Amino acid sequence: MASNRLSFRNITALAPMVRVGTLPMRLLALDYGADVVYCEELIDIKMAQCQRVVNEVLQTVDFVAPDDRVMFRTCERERGRVVFQMGTADPDRALTVAQLVQKDVAAVDVNMGCPKEYSTKGGMGAALLSNPDRIEAILKKLVSGLDIPVTCKIRILPSVEETISLVQRIERTGVSAIAVHGRFKDERPRHPVHCDYIQAVAQTVSIPVIANGGSSDPVKTNADIEEFRKATGASSVMLARAAMWNASVFAKQGPHPVEKVMEEYLKYAIRYDNNAFNTKYCLCQMLRDKVESPLGKKVQAAQTNAEISEAYGLQEFYQQIQDQLQTRRDALQSSSLPDRPVMEGDVTTMAVKFERREYPPQITPKMFLLEWSRREKLEQPLYEIVRDAESKTLIRQSVNINHKFSPHPE
Ligand SMILES: Cc1cc2nc3c(=O)[nH]c(=O)nc-3n(C[C@H](O)[C@H](O)[C@H](O)COP(=O)(O)O)c2cc1C
Repeated sequence: MASNRLSFRNITALAPMVRVGTLPMRLLALDYGADVVYCEELIDIKMAQCQRVVNEVLQTVDFVAPDDRVMFRTCERERGRVVFQMGTADPDRALTVAQLVQKDVAAVDVNMGCPKEYSTKGGMGAALLSNPDRIEAILKKLVSGLDIPVTCKIRILPSVEETISLVQRIERTGVSAIAVHGRFKDERPRHPVHCDYIQAVAQTVSIPVIANGGSSDPVKTNADIEEFRKATGASSVMLARAAMWNASVFAKQGPHPVEKVMEEYLKYAIRYDNNAFNTKYCLCQMLRDKVESPLGKKVQAAQTNAEISEAYGLQEFYQQIQDQLQTRRDALQSSSLPDRPVMEGDVTTMAVKFERREYPPQITPKMFLLEWSRREKLEQPLYEIVRDAESKTLIRQSVNINHKFSPHPE
């Protein structure tokens, strides 16, 4: 529905950031007042291999790689506000990936600005800037094949004229907005941002322009966001480093003390079972020059979210969340099983809960049963595992002990 489409006019956005822009950071930025949040750049080839899985325990939608790594996790809270940024150089693959995620995100963005090798290899990221035909092919394919808005993020070209000519071509593809990082391809973050280039772009195109590159100088606090918007004449502003250091830069009353911000971040990381190394990485970015402080050293030494929680005195919160998640897991497992044993001919159906504490270490119910059948001189038990086709949640695990019937199709 057109009215529900995400608008990029007059917004403040969390910029795409590899390793930083995972779910906890995006939710934190939304809490502090960001209107739109971009995920980290995800490479099309990797995403194309992922399966969409509804995670009923965490109440998230996960895109899971064949090696079980969660490449992209999202949830209801950010639906309508999250932009999926993709690294791609191939129109067909870009569309395949965009179609895989489009039900769960508000827009799709193509990265055309990242000069790092992981992005430019294979012609992606900033490498696309010297291949406008490819840019056009990718964006046209996405715009015509998707029901959600398509955007892109570029860096500026060596001259204003070249930059303008490129953005005009991009606008004609039908994209909904364009983010402009006001630095040349080979410039580093320490170089001043070229507000005049962004301004020239903003005056040329009629789609919203999202100004980027202002962290640190000029944007240090929330009030500076407006200044940056004015200096560039852009409709919107996108922040990367300023938000990574302290996400409360989005808050009108901000910034809040970074200690508080780290705590809020960690709570989301625990709640959404964020990868511990990713959690650590983000906290270290927030600690900045305090990364060698006693707290920083504890964070660096931690290997799990539980250990990181201890460093911040959040053990109780951690345990509460684990208990909640376990309760949900148990409810999901038993909801499809009868309350009491049901006997039908040779088959007895009953719900059996596995309480690890009731078994000696390393011993599982399967091993107990195997041992028992050997003693009773029965054939080895056969197992059948039924999982929900979409969420992969375990629905039923049945065991057939005397083999008078076989639940297996063979
Ligand atoms: C840690 C980090 C990761 C980044 N990853 C991405 C990325 O995945 N995609 C992208 O388009 N830009 C990426 N960038 C660039 C930022 O989105 C942004 O363009 C740049 O930092 C300038 O904005 P700023 O001055 O607000 O930091 C990254 C920047 C940082 C600091």
